[in-house]
Amino acid sequence: MTINFSSTNDIIVPTNNNETYRGLDGDDVYIISNAIPNNSLITIIDTNGQNIIQLTNGLEISSSRFSQDSSRIELSNGASGHLESFTDPLIECKTCNKRYREDHIDSELILTKTCPEPGCDGKLGEARMFHLMFKTFMGPVEDEAAIVYLRPETAQGIFVNFNNVVTSTRKKLPFGIAQIGKAFRNEITTGNFIFRTREFEMMEIEYFVKPGDDEKIHQQWIDDCMKWYESMGINPSNLRIREHDKDELSHYAKSTFDIEYHFPWGWGEIQGIANRTDFDLKSHSEMSGEKLTYFDDQTQEHLTPYVIEPSCGVDRAVMALLIDAYSEETTVQANGKPDTRVLLKLHPSIAPVKVAILPLSRNDKLAPLAREIYDQVRKSSLISGNVQFDDSQSIGRRYRRQDEIGTPLCITVDFDSLEDNMVTIRERDSMAQTRILISELPEIISKKL
Ligand code: GAP
Repeated sequence: MTINFSSTNDIIVPTNNNETYRGLDGDDVYIISNAIPNNSLITIIDTNGQNIIQLTNGLEISSSRFSQDSSRIELSNGASGHLESFTDPLIECKTCNKRYREDHIDSELILTKTCPEPGCDGKLGEARMFHLMFKTFMGPVEDEAAIVYLRPETAQGIFVNFNNVVTSTRKKLPFGIAQIGKAFRNEITTGNFIFRTREFEMMEIEYFVKPGDDEKIHQQWIDDCMKWYESMGINPSNLRIREHDKDELSHYAKSTFDIEYHFPWGWGEIQGIANRTDFDLKSHSEMSGEKLTYFDDQTQEHLTPYVIEPSCGVDRAVMALLIDAYSEETTVQANGKPDTRVLLKLHPSIAPVKVAILPLSRNDKLAPLAREIYDQVRKSSLISGNVQFDDSQSIGRRYRRQDEIGTPLCITVDFDSLEDNMVTIRERDSMAQTRILISELPEIISKKL
């Protein structure tokens, strides 16, 4: 299965595993390929990470994907509370045996116990709680003491490293610890493409604050995160903030606000921003016996900081950015026939290819100069990001290809360039073309990006 945003470039495809074995639908990691190559996730992470980390007096860590905390949970009832609370209500049709999350299906169907599957007249059974953490064993012996869980969030790795960070960096409150990495959830149903998968990329910040400052700083984070999506060019009317009802709050949260995007199937969460209070540090302290506290120089007291947590699913953010950037424009071909131009209006900072160098044709006279310009732009300290060289097919087709993957700028090297040392710079959104001196290229490109 492939989602084609365009005829020539696959934007997102599942990995081979899915194609080969089937039966694991929704379990595979979807990769963003070809059009959005190697660096798309990294670009977004970097953009976000840099902004956030610079903004917050923070640092980034990388902890294990095995949840050490959770491995103790079964023995000691758990510090994070995930084993007890990280469950979803599962409901199954007695006829077709399809399983659903109770809170994902229409309440009318729940009341009448009607199966949502088209064509099935079966009755739904009673809801039972279903555990969302993947359980496995560490070491050669598969006994109770060897049980570990794959982390369902990156947050716990931050809490258990709190003392390491505080003692090694002597950070003063408020400060943030960020982590980006895989999280695993045994979701009852996956779907809506990369919106809900069992293995996904998370980026989280635990932002430690003085108790009492938490509500004000929570609001600042909500505002800043919302601004980030808007600054990436997402149409504000496709974004909204939704506060969790009391009965929806996670076991650790005092209050949570979700940033939601208006996906083609409706509103869906792309990021949650929670006030986790001192729940996690206190729980880990109690469970481990190690005090996870902060010494306040001013009051000369030990305190347990409160935590504000912006938590974002990278895959969902990528999906929202791609959907929002996708555009179709009606144009007229040289022969007068109407045509449709497909383009991704990605913000330059997250466009996977920043600049494409396009010799007018594959020609021995043009090639050396075009390659020289490619090297000049690629190696310029003024430009960061991927620069592509493409000399296959007609120039028109190549412009379209770059439009479809969201490349903001194309540089065309033609036969006049050999004489006048100038090239044409073409802008993705307006298709405006300007002639500029080759020597000025890096400066002009860096300004436009
Ligand atoms: N530490 C807080 C936490 O885990 P969450 O709302 O359960 O909060 C945070 O998850 C974010 O992770 C969500 O906003 C969403 O973007 C992403 N996410 C959660 N479950 C996901 C799944 N099954 N597939 C893809 N992304 C998911």
